[in-house]
Amino acid sequence: ASVFRIVILPGDGIGPEVVTEAARVLEAVTAALPDVDLKLETYDFGGCSIDKFGEPLTEATLEACKSADAILMGAIGGPKWGVNSKVRPEQGLLALRKALGLYANIRPANFASDSLLNYSPLKPHIAQGVDMIVIRELIGGAYFGTRKELGASPQEDTAWDTMIYSVPEVQRITRVAAQVALAANPPLPIHSIDKANVLASSRLWRKVVIETLEEEFPQLKLDHHLVDSASMLIVSNPKKLNGVILTENLFGDILSDESSVIPGSLGLLPSASLAGAPSVADYKSADFKATPGLYEPIHGSAPDIAGQGIANPVGTILSAAMLLRYSLGLEKPAKAIEDAVRKVLDDTEKGGAGYRTADLAGQHKTKDVGDKVIEILKTLL
Ligand code: NAD
Ligand code: IPM
Ligand code: MN
Repeated sequence: ASVFRIVILPGDGIGPEVVTEAARVLEAVTAALPDVDLKLETYDFGGCSIDKFGEPLTEATLEACKSADAILMGAIGGPKWGVNSKVRPEQGLLALRKALGLYANIRPANFASDSLLNYSPLKPHIAQGVDMIVIRELIGGAYFGTRKELGASPQEDTAWDTMIYSVPEVQRITRVAAQVALAANPPLPIHSIDKANVLASSRLWRKVVIETLEEEFPQLKLDHHLVDSASMLIVSNPKKLNGVILTENLFGDILSDESSVIPGSLGLLPSASLAGAPSVADYKSADFKATPGLYEPIHGSAPDIAGQGIANPVGTILSAAMLLRYSLGLEKPAKAIEDAVRKVLDDTEKGGAGYRTADLAGQHKTKDVGDKVIEILKTLL
């Protein structure tokens, strides 16, 4: 059997609750497939690691991640280690992404099930048929530029952050967007989002996106939107942005949370963070591996509902499916998980189970949804 080492980082708040269900789904895959052996190893990360060791990302956790085939994370952070703490869980996440060179963050924002249209805050005719994939640059921009805190010299009453992008940084994320666009048939259009009417880094962004696509992928459709009006379109006429949304780190963070309004809950959306693009050929070949990718739902530790067993595990379960697809090259079980999730969310009258958590007006618990996904998955593997 092919043996894969998967590092599990449960994290804080609802992180452990949602990761438990996704890990059980991966264990169900191992149990059902004799030629696949997924070895899951759990490590401390985030606030719980600060409490034990004084730092959010220890050398032991980092080394385990570096040598793993893939990493599955829940979420980190919480009021206990708030914005005024000297050491914060979020610093660990940024350090991990940077250390692994995970510059490409892929966040699909499409419908896990059409039955979710009933629970979207948007009118059904606006939400229906939305199919967008956010490609967010993950280790550049304002997150990683130099900064100065309030109270530090030389000017104690100022604080600043710098938003820096280099030409190669924008070229490589543009190539990822192109590969994702080309993996669909017909290829998806690319919508590049920036603030080029104000920011120098955005003018560089727009120029490099145009040049890279013209030179290397002239067959792809490209348009540009300013981030303010794009954020309006996402909730007023999102189908206009169907395809690949290509954007920088901070804008991508904000727009991906906003895009979760369309399917109806932040708890639904998964993500993959990769150190490179699966090329179209790689993506389709059976032995493709993008390691060690980091897979996590796009949501946070949800302190307001932590400990109640009511968090939606779907975003994390779908992240596990992305892990199988992108890092392990296991397309069949990845697809089976996605199909199982769809059946679990579907309303009973459509032949599905109609299992939903409270964020989608359901009454089921985190574990109920996990149980149901596994039950249906077993029939699909
Ligand atoms: P959040 O994403 O944790 O929660 C926002 C809202 O969405 C809350 O009302 C929450 O209950 C709800 N929600 C989120 N996930 C849900 C799920 N799976 N099921 C049901 N409801 C869900 O954002 P926040 O409250 O602004 O941040 C809390 C902490 O999480 C902060 O410390 C933040 O830095 C951290 N955070 C971490 C990650 C990560 O680990 N990748 C991502 C985002 C935020
Ligand atoms: C995310 C989160 C992180 C980010 C935080 C926790 C650092 O919001 O993954 O979307 O801003 O990238
Ligand atoms: Mn975010």
